[in-house]
This record gives sequence, structure tokens and C-alpha cells, in this order.
Amino acid sequence: MLKNIFETPMWHKRISPKWRDELKRLTGVIKDIRDKDPNSNQSQYLNGYTTYYSKEDILNSKDFINIKKVIETEAQEFMKELGICDNIDVKVETLFGNINGQYSAHSMHIHEMSHFSGSLYLDANIKDAKIGFLSPSYLSMMHFNPDMFDKKSFKTSLKLTPRTGDILIFPSWLLHEVEPQQQKHERVCVAFNIILNPRRPV
Ligand SMILES: [Fe+2]
Repeated sequence: MLKNIFETPMWHKRISPKWRDELKRLTGVIKDIRDKDPNSNQSQYLNGYTTYYSKEDILNSKDFINIKKVIETEAQEFMKELGICDNIDVKVETLFGNINGQYSAHSMHIHEMSHFSGSLYLDANIKDAKIGFLSPSYLSMMHFNPDMFDKKSFKTSLKLTPRTGDILIFPSWLLHEVEPQQQKHERVCVAFNIILNPRRPV
């Protein structure tokens, strides 16, 4: 009997086109924050920009109220699919804006101290940088590369090219990276962390 163990769930969806104008507006808001940030020439993110290092708290900004709700609604749907929606509050705990300029990249990392993480792409097209995911199994591999079997269950990496309106939510322990941005276009997204809180009985 075949059993799949240690599965890695991911939510990948394109949100409704009715949000297009809002995504465009927020792209402008994040670029504005960058342009007004005295520390925007950040060595931490070469050729790119993130509000992660700025004093700008976009999580509590009026501008981002609606998009935060969209993220929480998507995360709730995801939790429902996973069968863990009962008695759980789903909350966006951190939110930051990212701009990938030409030749910027973001090396492999995880997001600590949260349950799920993800990105919502405000302005991204097919030629923009891919996001890559690495299976934790890759790090404990010894003699051979399971990718050679070319079977889904043995794959150790996955690359996606998100487009405007795409949302990705995945476990925060999942290693991920942004590949180098090759074109001049600035790829803009909001990244977030989600915390699940058990509801206390009243
Ligand atoms: Fe990340």
C-alpha cells in the first residue's frame, strides 16, 4: 500500500481580476515608499528594495487594509482545504513590499516564527524572475539525485513564474528563493507571514 508522508501543501491561485486596479495602486504606493526612503539604496538587497528594512509599517497602513483581507480570505480557504479551519483564527502577522529591479535576487531562506508565508504579486509578468522552492529532503541527500527518476514524488525543487494577481501561500519552513531578475521591468509583490491561533472556547 502506497502512503505519501510529509507532504508540502501550497496554495497557488490568481485572485479575481476585480482587484487589478488595487494591485496597480499598491505597486505605486510601494514605489513611492522606496522613492521617499532615505535608506532605499540598501546593501541588504542589491538592486532591489524591501520595506522589511524600512520604518514603514505597511501592515498597519490604511493603504493595505483591503489586500490584507484578501490574503486572509485566501489563507482561510487554504486552511479549509487542509481541513484545519475549525476553531482557528488566520491572521496576517507581517507584511512587507518587495521590488525586484534588474539583477536583484533573494537567496534561499525560510521565514521564522510563523506558520505560513507567501507572496501576492502586484506587478509580475512571464519574463520576470522565478520563485524557486527546495525540498528539505535535498539537504539530506547523499548518493544520488532523486530528480533523475523524473517523478513528481521524487522532485527536490520547483520553480514558478508568478504573474500579476497570483498568490502563493506555503509552510514557513519551506526553503525558497527569488532567482535573478533579468529584465529591466520591476517585479513588485507583497510578502507576508501568517499565524494560526486556536480560538479559545467562550
Ligand atoms: Fe521569503
